[in-house]
Amino acid sequence: MYYPEEIVEEVRQRNDIVDVISGYVGLSKRGSNYVCCCPFHGEKTPSFYVSRSKQIYKCFGCGEGGNVTTFVMKYENCTFPEALKLLAERAGVKLPEETYSEEAKRRESRRQQLLAVNKEAAKFYYYQLRGERGAKAREYLDKRALSNETRKSFGLGFAPVRGEELLLYLRQKGFTDDLIRDAGLAKADERRGTVTQFWNRVMFPIQDINHRVIGFGGRIMGTDDKGPKYLNSPETEIFDKSRNLYGMNLARSSRAGNMILCEGYMDVISMHQAGFAQAVASLGTAFTPGQAGLIKKYTKEVLLAYDSDGAGVKAALRAIGILRDAGMSGKIINMSPYKDPDEFMKNLGKEAFQERIEHAENSFLFEIRMLERDFDMNDPEEKTNFHNHIARRLCDFGEDVERENYIEAIADKYHIGFENLRKLVVNMAAKTGGYAVALVSRERPKSGMNSRGKNPAQENARKAQRLLLTWLTDYPQLYEKVKSYISPDDFTDELYRKVAQRMFADIEKGQFHPAGIIDLFDDEKEQSEAASLFTTQLPELETVQEKEKAFHDILVRVKKNSYEHYLERSGVEIAALSIAVEGKKALEELNKTHISFN
Ligand code: UTP
Ligand code: MN
Repeated sequence: MYYPEEIVEEVRQRNDIVDVISGYVGLSKRGSNYVCCCPFHGEKTPSFYVSRSKQIYKCFGCGEGGNVTTFVMKYENCTFPEALKLLAERAGVKLPEETYSEEAKRRESRRQQLLAVNKEAAKFYYYQLRGERGAKAREYLDKRALSNETRKSFGLGFAPVRGEELLLYLRQKGFTDDLIRDAGLAKADERRGTVTQFWNRVMFPIQDINHRVIGFGGRIMGTDDKGPKYLNSPETEIFDKSRNLYGMNLARSSRAGNMILCEGYMDVISMHQAGFAQAVASLGTAFTPGQAGLIKKYTKEVLLAYDSDGAGVKAALRAIGILRDAGMSGKIINMSPYKDPDEFMKNLGKEAFQERIEHAENSFLFEIRMLERDFDMNDPEEKTNFHNHIARRLCDFGEDVERENYIEAIADKYHIGFENLRKLVVNMAAKTGGYAVALVSRERPKSGMNSRGKNPAQENARKAQRLLLTWLTDYPQLYEKVKSYISPDDFTDELYRKVAQRMFADIEKGQFHPAGIIDLFDDEKEQSEAASLFTTQLPELETVQEKEKAFHDILVRVKKNSYEHYLERSGVEIAALSIAVEGKKALEELNKTHISFN
């Protein structure tokens, strides 16, 4: 959904950043700003600043910064349109209706119907669990020590023995049998007509990240009940098992900074009950790259809490590979002597689990440890073989420092001499065609950021440009006096040039709002960088003369750099020469001019 800029601006202006942020975290006043401990990284002393006059926030600890919409996006882990909707609602601004094509409308209404029937079914199961017939299921959940609060937050329910009851209920609500079947709640049966998928099971609704029920898992209660332990909804138009995770609707707003990937629904539930709201699980199928991608939107650090049995280890090894391909780091939580997180929690409790989190094993070391089991270390030949396998795996690290660190860690752990192992790795690389070129593209700075921080002259130029923008933010009235000398072209840094373009245009129109400029950027790093332009502290200068001098200096520095920059490029770019010539003139002019602050 695209919203026109005026609407975005209106929503922002009607939502004061200090009011909005204090709805999430406690702010206290400090000078003309508000401060608190940063909600985006752990800290004990506040370095998170909110400015009412500029409508911007900035953390001087982690660098995070932006305006009211980026704050909501970040805090709620939501998209721009979602944040805008939330803020519009908060301020009573009416957003324009979304306009759909006919086809899109049809598809959307179909999705809505499927979601509606699922929601109604979840409600039905929910009340069954709490009603007369739910006694056995309640007893079962008691036995598994799930509190009422937990049952509620996961929307647990019960599918009664007579499946038809669901059908009667849904039909009475106006849903057709076709829709009920398409939602995976029932199947067509030759003899009996429509029969429900679930009966006599404890029901676990599966929700998407927006808390909408997209499917179900149902568990038998007794050991002598027939059928699989868990029965799940089939995949449907709204239920894609490879792109959703159980518990993600809750986990995505946990502030843990990592996610814990479990194998089972019950694991997720008991983890949440113990306070680990970052736990999720796949949906009765193996972990997929699509699920890795979903997690990556929230965090890159994944802790695996898979079962400690053979199948669990195998599944963990597969998941590690998928995470690695997605550019994420995985660690393995040791559950022994228990089978899974649910059992662990029941027996040792949350403090012990927290400790296990802190001691989670690096995924590479875990892989090697599992590999070791295949070899008999008492047999010299097998031992050599094991070392060769290790060396081959070490060649997978494309980066020297990383590889060296792992060689060191492995050599230490398996009592192989460091130099020996290193030699083995080098020989292996020679044999197999070198070290792996890193397959996953490491986060590369985006365009406009690529020249950063390398060359000191460039760094100085950027600093001057940044300061000039800060001056003009604090004293927009100066723009009128300098506009004949300076233009957006003088900002050789791409990001600053974009900011200058918008800022100068806004000042000309008499409507400059720093917060609006943040929206020029989609990338979070760029948003933070832009926010820091408006929150940089100018040097504390006493007198007007001092200020005028400082400002003049900055102006000259920016202009001089720009002149040199275009002069250098005039050999390759025709337009650059004329900019350079103009620049030279302006610079001479500027040197003779006094720019007064009054
Ligand atoms: P587990 O058997 O480990 O499940 O299977 P669990 O969550 O620990 O169950 P409890 O504690 O015995 O109640 C892990 C996951 O595999 C899927 C389910 O998603 C389950 O949560 N599964 C398992 C099925 O889909 N069908 C089955 O028959 C068994
Ligand atoms: Mn279990």
